Amino acid sequence: MDYVFDSDSELGHDHLDHLGNVLDPPTRWCLERLGLGPNARCLELGAGSGSIANWLAARTGEVVAVDIATTQLADAAPGVKVLQHDLRDGLGVDGPFDLIHARLVLLHIPEREKIFTQLVDALAPGGHLVLGDFTGRVLQPIAVPAPEDSALWERMQYLSHEIVGKTRGISLSWAAEVPHRMTAAGLVDVHTTEYSETTAGGSDGCLLHRNLNRQAEPLLLAAGATTDELARYRALMLDPRFRAWFYQLLYTSARKPA
Ligand SMILES: C[S@@+](CC[C@H](N)C(=O)[O-])C[C@H]1O[C@@H](n2cnc3c(N)ncnc32)[C@H](O)[C@@H]1O
Repeated sequence: MDYVFDSDSELGHDHLDHLGNVLDPPTRWCLERLGLGPNARCLELGAGSGSIANWLAARTGEVVAVDIATTQLADAAPGVKVLQHDLRDGLGVDGPFDLIHARLVLLHIPEREKIFTQLVDALAPGGHLVLGDFTGRVLQPIAVPAPEDSALWERMQYLSHEIVGKTRGISLSWAAEVPHRMTAAGLVDVHTTEYSETTAGGSDGCLLHRNLNRQAEPLLLAAGATTDELARYRALMLDPRFRAWFYQLLYTSARKPA
């Protein structure tokens, strides 16, 4: 099943910018604590805008950035080797790697279990695997301009995650499975960090929700959303009086025994 969004499009470009603005700080924190050396060889899967690949390249050795859509990786930093490749056909590059990182990639790809096995195989002895994915935690509204906005928000989350997401092979349960799979695969020092924050209308988290809603419009309409609901939801995502929990991200890291 193909990826729902298009990172090469203008909306896809904004999508990745919003993601980076919200999630790059916690991602850098998770990666920094691994203490990677200047010669570490890194694999950045589903590299998107390249923000993390570029950051890694400034601190480590070679970084291979793999994505099915690479328009935004055209200006990648020196030290980043860009590879346009579909991960459903294997990793596209030989290991071993001292770090393999994927943020919000495996939840989108139904072949995630097969890819996970390939990632473990591609780790160098002592190498780190770091996977970050959203969970299915219900995203509670905290403040709404009008009482009916809560129901609208809940309906859009339901249609996006329970109808569109599930029919497109997106897994919001994968993130919680990762620690167990890492242990079962023989990795050690398994450690999970949970990250979540609130987001207000007009800020990156709500702009991301709005962006995803626009990109998925045909799928949402097919799932039963009306054009009026979509318009009201998108206006709500710009209204600073609205506040809700953003997605919950689980970051799990583990190491291959040396
Ligand atoms: C939600 S975005 C996350 C991007 C980036 N990791 C981040 O967190 O900002 C998912 C990324 O995975 C890429 N992707 C999706 N399916 C893919 C596949 N089968 N093979 C390679 N890349 C894929 C998309 O093009 C997109 O850049």
